[in-house]
Amino acid sequence: MKASIKKAKKVLLGNRRSGYTLPTNNKLYPAQWNWDSAFIALGYSYFNLNFALGEISTLLKGQWKDGMVPHILFHNKNTNYYPNYSVWNCGNKISSSGITQPPIMTSVLKKIVEKNELNKKQKLKVIKIVKNLNKYHEWFIKFRDPKKTGLVSILHPWESGYDNSPLWDIPMSKIKVEKDLKYKRGDVKVVNPEYRPLDIDYDRYVTIKNFLKKNKYNTKKIYKASLFNVVDIGFNSIFLKANKDLLVLLKKFNLNISKIKNYIALTETKIIKLYNHKNNTFICKDLKNKKKIRIPSITNYFLLYADLKNELINKKIINSLKNYNKKEKYIFSSIKPNHKNFEEKRYWRGPVWINCNWIIYQGLKNKDKLFSEYVKQKTIQMLEKKGFHEYYSCKNGKSMGANNFSWSAALYLDLVLS
Ligand code: DGY
Repeated sequence: MKASIKKAKKVLLGNRRSGYTLPTNNKLYPAQWNWDSAFIALGYSYFNLNFALGEISTLLKGQWKDGMVPHILFHNKNTNYYPNYSVWNCGNKISSSGITQPPIMTSVLKKIVEKNELNKKQKLKVIKIVKNLNKYHEWFIKFRDPKKTGLVSILHPWESGYDNSPLWDIPMSKIKVEKDLKYKRGDVKVVNPEYRPLDIDYDRYVTIKNFLKKNKYNTKKIYKASLFNVVDIGFNSIFLKANKDLLVLLKKFNLNISKIKNYIALTETKIIKLYNHKNNTFICKDLKNKKKIRIPSITNYFLLYADLKNELINKKIINSLKNYNKKEKYIFSSIKPNHKNFEEKRYWRGPVWINCNWIIYQGLKNKDKLFSEYVKQKTIQMLEKKGFHEYYSCKNGKSMGANNFSWSAALYLDLVLS
């Protein structure tokens, strides 16, 4: 374990640039990503609190005036990443993408604040961060749930973080690819294309992105007219948990809590309707096409992380989770292996991702001690045996995608040191 802790720290420090950290040290992701940064900050908090808070502050330097925190900040413009800063052509102070990502940062910050004594300077920094995160949460409520349903929408699969998940297959199949699209993917030059999304996926990603750009990322317009508008159970579970954690932080620093508190109550009643406990299925809502999405994705189980106050439903979900990967050597595959769209090696269509295991573990900890320990130990063992990679096969643990992957290293530190 000691050697792996040392290696994990080395991965993070090796990927660190000035004030922020790359998801990996190869050419695949040469920028700062929103939810990667959150997990990375948690990793740093075990050996350098200033790096942890610095990582978060740097991300928030790129926050837009309306409150959105972009999914990518392009600190370095000289890269082969596609779509790069010039293609998005937006940002506030720092060039960025025009969409966001799962807002898990607040929950990470709460963890960091709870386990560390802050000096005066660090406390002031944290208060500033909390205020900015509050603006971010209010942006979600205002612009991603304008009808106040209690559930927020994502307007691009990249916003989910699980880009090419089968969850999006049907809504994506409806998107008419723009004519004469011209672009060059950088990812397939550095990673085996068998592990990456297909060209048709990219055609659609780029079509949606171009639509958002054409509409100048106008929040009101794009919510109504976006080519993709989905209420995802995983994303909303992360947001509900983040709102609950934000409330604790706001109270701790004597800041105003009213808006968030009411929204939490509303989400609690609505999110539960995305789980049908009679037939044990989860639903995401394709608002654009007015359809229900039913795909057995591990991200549906993030509902446990949202900490719903319903013991019966939590128990049922945990029982279903226990059967999810019964036959597999490594847990949890991103899609249930018996589903027709499961692919062992392709990015978010089957491989095991450490951040998913970590989120599920957090959700299980206060509900099923024994099973949560099992999930934790299996994850630790896989990381110690296979190293810190982007994703892994659930069949044999084969590592795929990028190596020296920051969030796998960072979350390993949290799992073994918390
Ligand atoms: C990528 O480039 O594959 C990212 O997941 C987009 O955020």
